[in-house]
Amino acid sequence: MNGQRLDTETINHIKNSVDIVDIISSYIPLTSRGRNLFGVCPFHDDTNPSMSVSREKQIFTCFSCGATGTVFKFLQDYENISFIEAVKMCADKAGISINIKSSNTKTKDNELYNMYDIAATLYQNNLNTDAGLEAKKYLYDRKLDDKIIKKFKLGLSLNDNKLEKLLNKYDNSLKDRSGLFNKSNFKYYDTFSDRIIFPIEDLNGNIVAFSGRIYKEYKDEKPSKYKNSKETEIFKKGNILYNYRNAKEDARKQNKIIIMEGFLDLFRAYQIGVKNVVISMGTAVTKEQALLLKKMAKDVILCFDGDQAGAHATYSCANELIKLGITPKVVRLPDNLDPDEFILKNGGEEFKRILDNPINIMEFKLEYLKNNKNLDNSTDMSEYVNDILKELDKINDDILREITINKISKQTGLDTDLLKSKLSNKKEEVKKEIVIPKTPKKTNMYVKAEQYLLYYMLNNAEVIKLYQKHIGYMPTDKYRALAFEIYYFYKTNKYINVSDLMISLNDDNEKLNTINEINLLNLNDNYTTEQILDYIKTIKNYNIKVESKRLRELMKLEIDPLKKAEYAQKILEIQKNNEEVDKYDE
Ligand code: UTP
Ligand code: MN
Repeated sequence: MNGQRLDTETINHIKNSVDIVDIISSYIPLTSRGRNLFGVCPFHDDTNPSMSVSREKQIFTCFSCGATGTVFKFLQDYENISFIEAVKMCADKAGISINIKSSNTKTKDNELYNMYDIAATLYQNNLNTDAGLEAKKYLYDRKLDDKIIKKFKLGLSLNDNKLEKLLNKYDNSLKDRSGLFNKSNFKYYDTFSDRIIFPIEDLNGNIVAFSGRIYKEYKDEKPSKYKNSKETEIFKKGNILYNYRNAKEDARKQNKIIIMEGFLDLFRAYQIGVKNVVISMGTAVTKEQALLLKKMAKDVILCFDGDQAGAHATYSCANELIKLGITPKVVRLPDNLDPDEFILKNGGEEFKRILDNPINIMEFKLEYLKNNKNLDNSTDMSEYVNDILKELDKINDDILREITINKISKQTGLDTDLLKSKLSNKKEEVKKEIVIPKTPKKTNMYVKAEQYLLYYMLNNAEVIKLYQKHIGYMPTDKYRALAFEIYYFYKTNKYINVSDLMISLNDDNEKLNTINEINLLNLNDNYTTEQILDYIKTIKNYNIKVESKRLRELMKLEIDPLKKAEYAQKILEIQKNNEEVDKYDE
């Protein structure tokens, strides 16, 4: 990590050389309204434009999920990259050359990452020893070459309990939490033995789990084909997509991402040059994974196995995507083949050809829902038509709805007008309402004054000066801390703006969260000095109220009459001071 630090000046220069509006609109469409631009927030499950982007402030803010920050923060979260990588990306866009390796610089603060790295290295080595010959032969027989083995860091676990020895220095708690061992009679045994190992990386490229496949012939009891690491604090299967990092660039370039089921499918696609592929690793696609797909490219193509299980997986994954406003396309393979088998049988060119001609999701659903139904039977037919209409209601695409209505009309002989009238959601509003942020929950007037004052302090030196001159103090801890940070930034840099301040706060999440909270107020950016002095007065009154109350309580507890009098004097002084300031304010 040394030599990877950039000074604040350079970072701010890079930030100022790009426009957050240009960057964000290269990922999601933005429409302008007033001073801000609005778009659908990519960080939560939504189809309404609840994210605003401010050209003036160079920040984005989602009123719905609360995501907010600078252009770097947007890139970090959208691309799942580190801060340095995000800075590098902007520098590249602005044509500024910086001397920084664009590697993943996320600190590995959890020892589990190191344990998985060590394990992966051990497994990779095993595959190249004599003990690995049989496994190597298995891979070659399955027409996987050394390039694939290297690229995907394939390895081999042996039946030697060597990992336990290698990771001996780690304490038992880590061993327990790692999922790398089974425990029996207080002894640890390697979870994986005699399996070809597929390391699984998280979105940042850290190895966080393994999947192991059998490769030998078993006479009697055959173990399950694949064995997977259990979920740990660093591995949540439903939050990652295998091959995410490799596929990202290609998906972006082609604006197309393909999802398949298995490792072998992915490797085979990779061999024929189709690299914009991720896999679900055989489990149902979750909402989080769907959100990732949505972020990767506009076109999402589902290419699951050709069997019935693959059809179910297609149906369920499509529905997760449709909920996010994505209308995926589908490739169905013939004869129950999976992509791996199809490519081996028919060749890469034929596979690419069908990949370029996917069917639309409703075409797939018509087939899927017709399955096992006899359309000559009126009960079946009615059920079928109702099912289709229900599916159509969820789809945003007007043209696709029209086409599908015509299709079922032809299929069933039912009138198109009748079918249309059955759609509850007849005309999807083309223009989604821009979400106007709700007024924040009820807060008392003092807290509100602190928040409003902070809002203007974040972008106006004049307000900071007024604050410092008249109070320099806020009653609420977190607001006081932020006010101090703002003042400090201004003192050192002689200017203020919220995006630079956010960058300077680095990883101080507590303060960043407070800024987010304040940004979300989304007040009118114009203010009057009167208005500011009003907030200040409110806060001051509150400070005095709290302080007098405290002193009065102390006074009550005091027995010494002299000291009692001292308190009384103090209280009077505070109140008098207050009156003087009030006079000044007027
Ligand atoms: P498949 O059974 O289709 O395997 O499961 P595959 O990818 O075609 O692999 P080969 O050709 O049989 O070797 C698809 C994916 O589901 C996961 C794996 O990730 C696999 O690649 N899976 C499958 C499991 O996790 N456990 C299993 O027992 C089976
Ligand atoms: Mn398969």
